[in-house]
Amino acid sequence: MRNLEKVISMISKKRMIDKIPSGIQGLDEITEGGFTKNSIIALSGATGTGKTIFGMQFVYNGINNGENGLYICFEEPKKIMYKNMLKLGWNLSAYENEQKLTYLAYPPHEVDLFFDQEDTLLNLIDKFAISRVVIDTATILGMNFDTKNKRKEGLLRLADRLRSWGCTSLLINETQDFPEIAYSIESLADAVIYLYYVMDKGVRKRGIEVYEMRGSKHSSQVHPFIISSKGIEIKTKSVLKI
Ligand SMILES: Nc1ncnc2c1ncn2[C@@H]1O[C@H](COP(=O)(O)OP(=O)(O)O)[C@@H](O)[C@H]1O
Ligand SMILES: [Mg+2]
Repeated sequence: MRNLEKVISMISKKRMIDKIPSGIQGLDEITEGGFTKNSIIALSGATGTGKTIFGMQFVYNGINNGENGLYICFEEPKKIMYKNMLKLGWNLSAYENEQKLTYLAYPPHEVDLFFDQEDTLLNLIDKFAISRVVIDTATILGMNFDTKNKRKEGLLRLADRLRSWGCTSLLINETQDFPEIAYSIESLADAVIYLYYVMDKGVRKRGIEVYEMRGSKHSSQVHPFIISSKGIEIKTKSVLKI
């Protein structure tokens, strides 16, 4: 009987081990240990809430932790992105030279190219043993479809591919202009995280909420966070009061 209990406890521990550190300071504390390996995370928020910084931090610290990353960007050219991120102490060029980071920048008018390059993406993921992917933004991908059904189908297919390729993926979701696309992205994800940037007596304050995380207990509070010289730091013991 004792042995059986031991086995059961080992199995449940193993389930917990299926988590990977998010790379975001404080987030693992409020999510039972980070992101579920191989899951799709939707990161939702308005412009300026910190989504791109969160995405890069997820990839950068993933690399520090032995997981190679792919950052697909429809928003910023590589040069500008690398320069901005250097201010947070993240030397992306160095990781690119070591073949630990792959950065793909598509101008917004070439988004359709992305969908034609599934094989290329899979080759990259294989070649560089990539296990963390960020799409910045998945909203722009969603805009590429002319009907709601086609969009749902296309995004679901992408999510299935990412899971089957063994990646843990962050789909960045711009919520303010396209609520329907935002909803499609959130509904296919295994976890949904919201970033806020709210006004309080003339001062903007940042907040983060884990809205959904399948299979995990998580905080239901909106926690304040700051963007420091090391990136996002969540105040896990506080609640955002406005
Ligand atoms: N080095 C930095 N130190 C502190 N705050 C920064 C730094 N770089 C950017 N920020 C803050 O982050 C904001 C942009 O975050 P970003 O991740 O680009 O937002 P989003 O992708 O949601 O539009 C900036 O408007 C600024 O307030
Ligand atoms: Mg951004």
